[in-house]
Amino acid sequence: MCGIVGAVAQRNIADILVEGLRRLEYRGYDSAGIAVVDLHKNYTRIRRIGKVRELANAVATSNLIGGTGVGHTRWATHGVPSEVNSHPHISGDITIVHNGIIENHQALRSLLQDRGYTFVSQTDTEVIAHLVEWERRTATSLLEAVQKTTAQLQGAYGAVAMDSNDPERLIVARSGSPIVIGHGIGENFIASDPLALLNITRRFMYLEEGDIAEITYDNVNVFDASGQHVERAVIELHAQQDAGEKGKYRHFMQKEVFEQPTALRNTLEGRLTHDAVITESIGVNAVDILNKVEHVQIIACGTSFNAGMTARYWFESIAGISCDVEIASEFRYRKFVTRPNSLLITISQSGETADTLAALRLAKKCGYMGVMTVCNVAGSSLVRESDFAFMTRAGAEIGVASTKAFTTQLATLLMLVTALAKQQKRISKAKEKEIVQALHALPEQIEQALALDKDIKALATDFADKQHTLFLGRGEFYPIAVEAALKLKEISYIHAEAYAAGELKHGPLALIDADMPVVVIAPGNDLLEKLKSNIEEVRARGGLLYVFSEQKSGFEAAHNMKIIRMPKVNEITAPIFYTVPMQLLAYHVALIKGTDVDQPRNLAKAVTVE
Ligand code: F6R
Repeated sequence: MCGIVGAVAQRNIADILVEGLRRLEYRGYDSAGIAVVDLHKNYTRIRRIGKVRELANAVATSNLIGGTGVGHTRWATHGVPSEVNSHPHISGDITIVHNGIIENHQALRSLLQDRGYTFVSQTDTEVIAHLVEWERRTATSLLEAVQKTTAQLQGAYGAVAMDSNDPERLIVARSGSPIVIGHGIGENFIASDPLALLNITRRFMYLEEGDIAEITYDNVNVFDASGQHVERAVIELHAQQDAGEKGKYRHFMQKEVFEQPTALRNTLEGRLTHDAVITESIGVNAVDILNKVEHVQIIACGTSFNAGMTARYWFESIAGISCDVEIASEFRYRKFVTRPNSLLITISQSGETADTLAALRLAKKCGYMGVMTVCNVAGSSLVRESDFAFMTRAGAEIGVASTKAFTTQLATLLMLVTALAKQQKRISKAKEKEIVQALHALPEQIEQALALDKDIKALATDFADKQHTLFLGRGEFYPIAVEAALKLKEISYIHAEAYAAGELKHGPLALIDADMPVVVIAPGNDLLEKLKSNIEEVRARGGLLYVFSEQKSGFEAAHNMKIIRMPKVNEITAPIFYTVPMQLLAYHVALIKGTDVDQPRNLAKAVTVE
C-alpha cells in the first residue's frame, strides 16, 4: 500500500513526480504529496488530502521548481487521512516518504521525544524522519545516516530520504516493500512499481530485501543488508507505455474486463500446441518437481485465493493430486503439517501481498519440496523468492477490483494441472487434447460473454437499490460465486455472500424474501439437476432469481425468475467463462450507484502491509 516516486535530474521534476503518483494511485488514494529541492537548496513541499488530482491542481498553480524530489500517495495505516499525516514528512533538512509499517514506532517515538523532537503527525513514518535527522548530525553522509536508521527499524518499509542541504542525491531503503530504480541518461528515478516510470524509462533495477541505494544523476550505488557494495542487474521492461491509460474506456476496471480475450491469448501463447500442453514452458526445474509431486498446498489472498479454490477442483479431478488451499494470513499464523512431497504454490496478481510473501518465506523453512508462484508481475518479490514462477501475463492491472488477473490465473492453473497430470501419466491423450482445445477456444468465447454487456447493464438496475445479494454455485462454480460476491461488494458496497447451493437449506434460506436477489451460476453439467432443486427452494420462498445458464438447460423465465442465456462452452473452462458476466454485473451495479469503481473506499491494489 502507498506509492512512492523519487527523482534526481537536471530538469524540473514536479510533473514527473505527479504523473508517477497518478500511475501509482491504485496503491492508495487517501492523500498525496511531493517535495522538491533545487540546486540552491530551495525546498518546497505540497500535500493534499484526497486523490492525486487534488495534488496535481495544487502543483499546477504553484511555482514549484526542483530537480531532486520525492512523492507519495497514501493508504492510511497509522493516523487518519489528513494533510498533516500525509507524506512527505520532514525533520530539519531531512524529508522522508515511506510505504509499509514500522512496528516499533511507539518505542522509537518515546526515544525521540526524550531527545527533544516534537511530533506533528500520528504516523509511524515521522519516526524515520526524526531518526535520520538525528543520525545525520554525526554521520559522514546521508547514506550512513539511513544505514544507521534502518538498523533500528522493525517492520516493513520502502523508504526514500532526501537532504535539502545536499540536493543532488536520494537514499532509498527496501525491507519488505517493493522498490525499483529507473535508469535514465544523466538522471535516475525511484518508484514502488515500474509502471510509475514507464513514460520515462524502460531500464529498471529491482532492489532486494535489505538493500540501501544511493542515487545521483549519474550513479546508482547499492549496498546489501550487511553494508557491502553489490551489483544488481538492470533489466529492460517491455511493458506497454499505455498500460497506465484508460483509452476509450470509462474505468480501468471496464478496460481490463474487456482486455480479457487478449490477456488470455498472451497467457496461452507458447505454452500449448494444438492438442497438448508444453510442460517445458513452465521451466526445466519445474518439470523435475512436477514428476514427484504428491500433494499441492495453495496459499493466496482475496481474488487470488478464489482462483486457488477453483484450481483445487482441477488438481483433484483432472490430476488426481490432493490439494489444500488456505488464506495466507491464516496459514502463516497456525501450526501446520507439511505433507510428504508437497509443492507449495502461491497465487498473486501483484507478487507483493505481505501475507502471501510472509507465508512463502515461512513455507521455505518447512520442508516443502518446492515453492512456485503463479504471478502477474515479473520481478516482484514472490517471483524472485520462489523456486519457479508461472507467469499469468495479464498485463498491468490498475483497477483495484481484480478481473483479468483472475481469469488468467485460472487459465495458468489449468495449464499447470494438465502438465502435472501429463508428467505423472494421470491423464489420457484425449482428455489433454480436450482441455487444450477448450483453452484455445476460450478467448473467442470470452468475447461472446462480453457481448452480453448490454443485457447485463439492463439487469443491473434490479440490484442497485438492494441491500444484499446472494450468489449460488456448486462444485467449481462455488468459488466463482464467491468471486462474484467479492466483486459486487468491493465496488458497489452492496453486502453480498456466496454459498455452495447445497448448503442453502442449512441456514441461509432464512434470508430469502422478496428483497433478496439470488444469482445462480448454473452451467449444464452433472450438478445441474441438483442445482434446479436448490433454485426451487428459493422460488418457493419468494426470492428474486437470476439464473445464468445455457440455452438448453430447461430453465424458463417466470415471475421473479430471470434467465440469462449463456453460450455453451466446455465444462472444464466454464468457470473462467462464467466469471465474465459476474464482473460485468458488479461493474454496472457500481456505475448506477455512482461509486468510485477503480478506487473503492478503504481499499488499495497491492496490500503490502499485514
Ligand atoms: C479483489 C482483489 C483483492 C486481491 C488480494 C490479493 O478484487 O483484488 O482481493 O486479490 O488483495 O492480491 P494479490 O493477488 O496481488 O496477491
